[in-house]
Amino acid sequence: MEVDYLYDAVHQFGLDIWAHTVKGEIDVRIKKDQQRIHAIAERLQGCQVVIEDVEEYITQYEKDWASSGKKAEWHEEYHTYDEIVAWYQSLAATYPTLTTWVPSIGKSFEGRDQPAIHFTAPGGSNKKTIYVQCQIHAREWISGAVCQYIVDNLLANYGSVQNVTSLFETTNFVFVPFTNPDGYSHTWNGDRLWRKNRQTNSGSACIGTDVNRNYNSHWGEGGSSSNPCSDTYMGASPASAPETQNTVAYFKKQSSIIGAIDMHSYSQLILRPWGYTSANSPDETFLKSVGDGMRQTILNAGGVSYTSQKSIDLYVTTGTASDWFYDDEATESNDGYRAAGFTIELRDTGRYGFVLPPSEIIPNGNEIYHAFIYFAERVNESPIEV
Ligand code: ARG
Ligand code: ZN
Repeated sequence: MEVDYLYDAVHQFGLDIWAHTVKGEIDVRIKKDQQRIHAIAERLQGCQVVIEDVEEYITQYEKDWASSGKKAEWHEEYHTYDEIVAWYQSLAATYPTLTTWVPSIGKSFEGRDQPAIHFTAPGGSNKKTIYVQCQIHAREWISGAVCQYIVDNLLANYGSVQNVTSLFETTNFVFVPFTNPDGYSHTWNGDRLWRKNRQTNSGSACIGTDVNRNYNSHWGEGGSSSNPCSDTYMGASPASAPETQNTVAYFKKQSSIIGAIDMHSYSQLILRPWGYTSANSPDETFLKSVGDGMRQTILNAGGVSYTSQKSIDLYVTTGTASDWFYDDEATESNDGYRAAGFTIELRDTGRYGFVLPPSEIIPNGNEIYHAFIYFAERVNESPIEV
């Protein structure tokens, strides 16, 4: 009875679902005015409170940090949109022979630039491309932070670490640091747990499209919502969000993308196609072996335990970026290659969820740095040809 009430509450009353765990549990944020749900959840067997007061946790953390008087190194703290753009720009300036800084691949709904950074060894020909996009979901701050860590360390290790140097010789790396710059900025302006972009919706007062339900791959076929008030709102039509359009156009502009990753948090998962169907993709054997190998590489690097699985085994989704990377529209203009498209869900498994402490950036960055090199090597070795 109470379980049913709770179930309905989660699925119909707009509770904020944070994650579906591998064990089949879900993490949900209950709002302060939802006292009845809170009371039931607290006494039902099998339910447990993980963070008593999310708001209190966020403000307390900020206070502790401010009063500590400590000056953090770059990767020891989260940063604003403006700080991150400036940081990438100066990183690119530090490595002028390796990098190309693209100030804008297009503007977001609110007019922010979506930059990109490219890096590769000087010279060479017939290089393949690996594309990574970060911070598609605004509140998943670790996504952008881990991308910064990877880019910083790859550049630092070119010329001194053999496997990194070799990868630079065969591969163009393209990182889009902000897939959703407006949403990210919004999480710094008071609404820390915002997920979607900040696009207005005609006929509704609710704001935002879930950019990761807005791509033109089985768009609107399930696992997304047609209600603009939902956190998984698919948008009015495929690629209706400017941020989707910009990343799609930029992806298509590149040549020979053999691998593409969409970086999320949290749950510690390595997700391969498909999200829209439980049918195996034509490349299931290869993609599973790459995903399993990334998991193992993370463990070998002293990282935490990730689960490698098909996206849909988490839950069904349609219109996601990583399905789109691997699907036909992206493949048509990709010089005979199909990108191995992955979603990575970073740390943790629910202890802090989206409000992961910044002390986790470096360890999370390090384990994914190693997994990323492994990924790049595997797709270089056996790119998917069409
Ligand atoms: N958690 C992300 C989201 O909801 C990733 C989804 C990955 N795809 C999937 N079918 N589970 O957008
Ligand atoms: Zn996400």
